Amino acid sequence: MLSEFLDTSDEWITTRTGIKTRHIITEERFEDLATEAAARAIESAGLCPDDIDYIICSNVSNLYVTPHLSSIIMGNLGMKGPLCPTMDVNVACLGFVQGLDLGDALLATGRAHNILLVAAEECTRFCDWTDRNCSVLFGDGAGAVVLTKGDNLIARKFTTTPMTDVIVYKNPMEATPFESGEGIDTHSPLVMKGREVFRMAVTSAARDIAQVTASAGLTLDDIDHFLLHQANLRINEAIRENLRQPEAKFPTNVQRFGNTSSASIPLLLDEGVHEKRIKRGDKILMSAFGAGFVSGIAILEY
Ligand code: ACO
Repeated sequence: MLSEFLDTSDEWITTRTGIKTRHIITEERFEDLATEAAARAIESAGLCPDDIDYIICSNVSNLYVTPHLSSIIMGNLGMKGPLCPTMDVNVACLGFVQGLDLGDALLATGRAHNILLVAAEECTRFCDWTDRNCSVLFGDGAGAVVLTKGDNLIARKFTTTPMTDVIVYKNPMEATPFESGEGIDTHSPLVMKGREVFRMAVTSAARDIAQVTASAGLTLDDIDHFLLHQANLRINEAIRENLRQPEAKFPTNVQRFGNTSSASIPLLLDEGVHEKRIKRGDKILMSAFGAGFVSGIAILEY
């Protein structure tokens, strides 16, 4: 389908990225996707929406800059209140892992007890569909979890390298009456320096994963599952080879979903739990990277 309107081929996309299919929002509403993931997570946790006392939502690619998506999800869940705090996180593909860290801090200080963490992205709507460099890579998706005390993270590391030109998406802005309007760069779809992202991703993950694991008093062999952000199968393969760990510990779904930004790790988690590959007590290492340039690792016991 893509090669009907882009100068690309299934062979190029498969060999360079591993992606075979991706899901693209058409008639559906993005906020419904996010709400469905949230509702399923709350149900799996044996709770009801009014038990939730904090909502964190990671997203970069939704229609609304404001109102924030957490507030929309809260309304869609039919929560009656008294209504709890909500906030959105924008750190691109790292959003879910960053949200875990925020949630952990809120739980540790007793400021929340049942936190809904949603990662929802409609990346396909911020691509220029005449640009083969970006549009073939992305898919839409949403994943969610409920965090409760006792599920604290074992270790984490987050870094930002201010390389603000490697992945860029600009929202439309209005020109004011106080400027000529000439040269105002008001909007651009996603622009990405793919090779640079590739290099940064492999370097930062390889550098940090072993270090965070050691800081937790663990070895790589103690980790049962490495849930890596799903951007490109070759990136994940390079990281795995660097760590010299078996393929079975690195589940993938980029082949089926494409890059769903911050939704990719919760989607992997959900699949692993439902297929009974991930069990209570297993040690999970999550690693993600994205625009900023940000990178983050978290180790937790499921
Ligand atoms: N079909 C056919 N040819 C293509 C396509 C396509 N879809 N896209 C690019 N090409 C061409 C390029 O134009 C280039 O042609 P040239 O050699 O004539 O100049 C050639 O293929 C090779 O391009 P490269 O960029 O060198 O290909 P590479 O092997 O690096 O793969 C890719 C490109 C897939 C983008 C890779 O670099 C990658 O995955 N990078 C990471 C991207 C990523 O993870 N982004 C995350 C961002 S998510 C977020 O933060 C919101």
